[in-house]
Amino acid sequence: MTDFLSYWRGTNWSFDVLYILPFFLIIIRGVSFYLYGRATDLPPMLSGWVPWIGCALQMGQQPLNFIQNARQKLGPIFTLKVLGQRLTFVTEEEDIEVFFNNPDLDFELAVHKPVKNAASIPPEPFFSNHFKLHSMMKGYLAPAKLEPLCKRLNEKFSWHVKKWGESGSGDLYKMVRKAMYAPVVEGLFGDDVLPTNDDEYKTFEKLFVQFDDNFEYAAQIPPFFLKDFNSAKTWLMDKFVTATKIAEKAKLNNGAETLFQTLIKTVDHEWAPNFGLLMMWASLANAIPITFWVLAFILENPDVLAEVRKELRRELKGLLFCWFISFAKISLEKLQNLELIKRCILESIRLRSPGAISRGVEKEIKIKDFTIPEGDMLMLSPYWMHRNPKFFPDPEAFKPDRWLQADVKRNIFLKGFMPFGGGRFQCPGRWFALMEIQLFVAIVLKSVDIDLLEKVPDNSLLHLLGVQQPETGLMVKFRARASTESRDF
Ligand code: HEM
Repeated sequence: MTDFLSYWRGTNWSFDVLYILPFFLIIIRGVSFYLYGRATDLPPMLSGWVPWIGCALQMGQQPLNFIQNARQKLGPIFTLKVLGQRLTFVTEEEDIEVFFNNPDLDFELAVHKPVKNAASIPPEPFFSNHFKLHSMMKGYLAPAKLEPLCKRLNEKFSWHVKKWGESGSGDLYKMVRKAMYAPVVEGLFGDDVLPTNDDEYKTFEKLFVQFDDNFEYAAQIPPFFLKDFNSAKTWLMDKFVTATKIAEKAKLNNGAETLFQTLIKTVDHEWAPNFGLLMMWASLANAIPITFWVLAFILENPDVLAEVRKELRRELKGLLFCWFISFAKISLEKLQNLELIKRCILESIRLRSPGAISRGVEKEIKIKDFTIPEGDMLMLSPYWMHRNPKFFPDPEAFKPDRWLQADVKRNIFLKGFMPFGGGRFQCPGRWFALMEIQLFVAIVLKSVDIDLLEKVPDNSLLHLLGVQQPETGLMVKFRARASTESRDF
């Protein structure tokens, strides 16, 4: 040891380094090639201490914060090793275009495993059905086709809001779920998926919440680890098997197919119940929490609430709203004019967007100076992108008026806004989502007075997949608006 130290102390550095450095570089390169089979210009990586598990434990309960901390530590492009998978995050605005439009990045590669775990659809039927299913959804839910859906939802939302009662208190999130689930499922899937008897309907609600709450974990780890998720899935899948049989036999109502009937005709017959369940989850899992946030943010800001009520009075003049009659006929055209509500919706979606969306790297790509190897999952976080002050000054504040600079009527949004993803497989339900949320918020604020009994909760930071859930409940007191008041236009 002493010999070794004296060698280092006494050595002629400039001469020896010249010989030793290239040698070290070759070794480093060799090790890196062994590990990754390619160049060393990979993004910096956090790999955790436990093989295969990687950073999964450190990400723990706060994956959203973990990725933001990793960004501060490692820079704008970085890789996290999680459960045997390399997740490479891009976080700067100039990377958005690459993420959505590079032909070597693939949406299907990113989602086929979660789909297998969560909806029991193996890769082969997924790949052969996915493209046609997406195209069908996009066509069925296109803006020009929404009028009949809007009409159907109108009556059902009003009726379910009426079921809250004349006055009372409750958790706003639960109230929204209760009033929206059934109308949305019946509107898109017909009357045969949901149980008609009250007790069984309560079981449906409970099990769907169980399915939804665990979906994110079920998408990542083999489902046999998640007992609650599995039992909920089996129960819900049974409903879809029965509903598929009924829907196939049913005569079409004036030629107007439900989304589910069209789905059955689109995908391979034996997988229709599985795709049906997956579509039902997609149609409820994001839009309903966002509806909760919109109401919560509006109610938390009295000035905004006053302006919204003024808009409702002005634009819905002549329409009858009162708690004991359950119809409020708001056409699509009328909704178009409720621009402030639309701005509140866009602002709420901005603040509570999905934690991350992903694309599979099919063939090695270059981003800035980094090589992103084939097999990586490229990740982008709308949640953090929407907190970029360059696009959204004072990003944490709820400011519906920032959307005055957009053209919300024509659905031209602000730069940097990407809650629905982008590219070929952008969310096909986005126009339907905006319509149903706007309709529900209008009906509620027109027919019910709601007071917050506590502070609006933060989002839970637990979720990367899908929009943000509230950390806790939000107790409110409500009272149906008097019929005279409702008619007071
Ligand atoms: C505020 C509400 C919603 C948000 C924020 C949202 C967001 C998203 C996002 C981020 C994606 C992935 C897109 C990508 O990776 O580029 C997606 C996919 C999808 N969304 Fe939505 N979504 C919402 C509502 C809905 C609704 C109401 C439906 C159905 C009626 C729906 C159906 C779907 C489907 C089927 C996919 C998968 C598309 C595919 O597999 O090709 N979404 N959504």
